[in-house]
Parts: sequence; C-alpha cells; structure tokens
Amino acid sequence: MMRRLLLPAFLAAPLLGGFTPAQAEDTLSPLHFQSQNLLGGYDIAALQRGFLVYQTVCASCHSASALHYRDLQALGFSAEQAGGIAASVKLANGQPATLNDRFRNPHMTGTAFGGAVPPDLSNIAAERPQGPRYIYHLLTGYEAAPSGTVLMSGHFYDAAFPGGQIAMPPPLKGNDVAYADGVTASAPQEAEDVSAFLAWAAAPNLNTRREIGVRAVLFLIFLSILAIATKRRIWRETV
Ligand code: HEC
Repeated sequence: MMRRLLLPAFLAAPLLGGFTPAQAEDTLSPLHFQSQNLLGGYDIAALQRGFLVYQTVCASCHSASALHYRDLQALGFSAEQAGGIAASVKLANGQPATLNDRFRNPHMTGTAFGGAVPPDLSNIAAERPQGPRYIYHLLTGYEAAPSGTVLMSGHFYDAAFPGGQIAMPPPLKGNDVAYADGVTASAPQEAEDVSAFLAWAAAPNLNTRREIGVRAVLFLIFLSILAIATKRRIWRETV
C-alpha cells in the first residue's frame, strides 16, 4: 500500500516544487503581469506598452544604460522596428542611435530638481525592495501633502517615497501615450505597464529561465520513470 502511494507522490513532488515560487510571487504583487502567461513569466504586450511609456515619458530624465536598443527584439519588436526606434533617438553626439547603442542618457545633472539626480532605471526594479510594486505605488502615489507637512522647495508629496518628499514631478497624467493595442492609457495602467517593463529590464532572462526550469522538471520526471522501471526490472521476482 505504502509503495503505491509513494510513486505518485514522488512524481508529483518536482511539479509542486517547480510551480510554488510563481504562485508565491503572485500573492506579493497587486500587479498580475507576472502571472499573465502559463509559466508565470512576462506578458509581452504589457512590456511593449511599458517601453512606450518609458520612451515617451521617463527617458527625457532617466537613463537605462544597461539596455541596448537591440534588446528590444526580446520584447517582440523585429530588427527593423527596433532599428527604427533607435534611429528616432538622437544621441548626445547628435547622431541617431543604432541597435548597438545603449539607451540614451539625458544627463540630467546639476541644479535641476534641486540637485536630485534621476537614477538610472536599468536595475531599479531589483534595487528597491519589491521593486515593480514599489515603482507602481511611487508613480500613482502623488497626493496633497498632509496638513502640517512643510514641503521642501521643488518637491512633491508622494506617500510611497521614503520620507514622502520627492523631487520628481508627477510623470504620469493619463493619456501620455497612445497604445497601439487599444488598451486605455489611464495613469494607473501606464504605471503598471512601465513597472512591468522595468521588472523586465532588471531580469530580462526570466522567461527563458522559467522555460528551462519546466524542461528540467519534465526531464527529471522522465528520468524518475526510467529509474523506477529499471529498478523493477532488476529486482523482479524470477520464481
Ligand atoms: C522631469 C524629469 C523626470 C521624469 C520625466 C521622470 N522622472 Fe523619475 N525621477 C526624477 C528625479 C529628479 C528623481 C530623483 C527624486 C529624488 O531623489 O527626490 C527620480 C526618481 C525616480 C525613481 C527612484 C525613486 C527612489 O526610490 O529613489 C524612480 C523609480 C523613477 N524616478 C521612475 C520614473 C519613471 C518610471 C518615469 C516615467 C514614467 C519617470 N521616473 C519620469 C525625474 C524624472
């Protein structure tokens, strides 16, 4: 009896083990972009929308220098489309960007924003705790300062920012972009999409890793069946 139960449990173990982390991530995040495909990976349409928000709104102040324009092909853009996007960007030397250039750095330093420097966004989703969720709340968290709060000059009140006072002017007002897929570009939608895009920027290989993981689990199941069959054959009672 025990042996009968053991086999299915043994086979199911890698499956359960393999899929729990994706579920655990889901409960952490109010954004469901991580669960939008079967393996818990990124939703390419959301990433494309997020890139559009990044490119149209955030890129005027922020760099993302770990990204090259050629990386856009991983978001489902063809080489021609990615090349076209690059060519529409003018680099500091006055030349249009190519696929092999890094995302443009707007070099926002100096006294703009009271000396606060817009950080590079390539890895920000990994640098901040619960990064994508934090970025979403940061972008949607602007509000009137609570009474009694004295705002520093050039600062805005944002409940999600540590200390509450941020030098970044509210970047999203809604309808900052026109989505090609017909999704309504409300400010929370744009915030969700750009958070997904920044999550991808910080971990661009997540989808591939998940796929390799599933293949490894399938292979291990196959190997387990083979091992059990071999064991049974070797130890078969011959009398
Ligand atoms: C007008 C310039 C400007 C634009 C446009 C802009 N930012 Fe910022 N951003 C800043 C500045 C300045 C800071 C630094 C704020 C500070 O330290 O007080 C900042 C900080 C940040 C931070 C870091 C917050 C932290 O925890 O330190 C994130 C994340 C961020 N911006 C995301 C975005 C995104 C996403 C967009 C596009 C939707 C965007 N920003 C558009 C100027 C800008």
